[in-house]
Amino acid sequence: MRAAGRRLGLVPTMGALHAGHIELVAAARREADAVAASIFVNPLQFAANEDLARYPRDEAGDLAKLRAAGCDLVWMPPVEAMYPPGAATVIEVAGPSSGWEGDARPGHFRGVATVCAKLFLQTGADVAAFGEKDWQQLQVVTRMARDLDIPIRILPVPTVREADGLAMSSRNRFLSEAERATAPLLPQVMARAAAEILRGAPVAGVLAAGQATLRAGGLAPDYLALVDAETLRPLDAPGHTGPMRLLAAARLGGVRLLDNIAVG
Ligand code: PAF
Repeated sequence: MRAAGRRLGLVPTMGALHAGHIELVAAARREADAVAASIFVNPLQFAANEDLARYPRDEAGDLAKLRAAGCDLVWMPPVEAMYPPGAATVIEVAGPSSGWEGDARPGHFRGVATVCAKLFLQTGADVAAFGEKDWQQLQVVTRMARDLDIPIRILPVPTVREADGLAMSSRNRFLSEAERATAPLLPQVMARAAAEILRGAPVAGVLAAGQATLRAGGLAPDYLALVDAETLRPLDAPGHTGPMRLLAAARLGGVRLLDNIAVG
């Protein structure tokens, strides 16, 4: 494809595909002549206590969905192909890896940055689509590609949501029926908080009230924070002029829900 001068789009995934991933394929297709998806459950981005073994896998279903979405190529490397014996190089992205998910999941972004750099270089893709749902991951990967002069454009794709506002995620399937009914409280609280901040209400008070509402509703918030959209530094006073983002992580049963929205 590259020899023929065709532009290649890449959609990196860990499988267990949902409509959010299919939107990534569609977005990549709008920017490229052909689209490749990768399916690789990357052990390097899971800590020892995390859910690598339990991560949902559905190879046949994923391939059928990608075929229906018009994906041209699927790259499903075995672990030994990505990390052969003796592999000794990892990528640390300082800055956007710090705080939030970086604190909650030490080493996670090292694994993400390393596997994404490998996927970019293996495929030689011109553009790679990433969901805004994982906002911090999007900043980490964008910074990494820029810092390492990898000739690829990172294409952010807006979060795809269920009808009740819950951000789509492969992990939502682990929610019980009752937890699934509770989960939309997270985007509701975030939308309310963003509106109050824009109206000029004190940020710290808005965030504290939002966390209290989440707790009262049965969610255990890890954080609800207003940050600079690119650096992810917390903003607790009015007057910031650049783009802002509200980030949230909250536990519901055994599932950790992640979400973020633009503020303004
Ligand atoms: O977002 C994901 O599914 C993964 O973190 C990614 C980008 C495919 C890297 O393994």
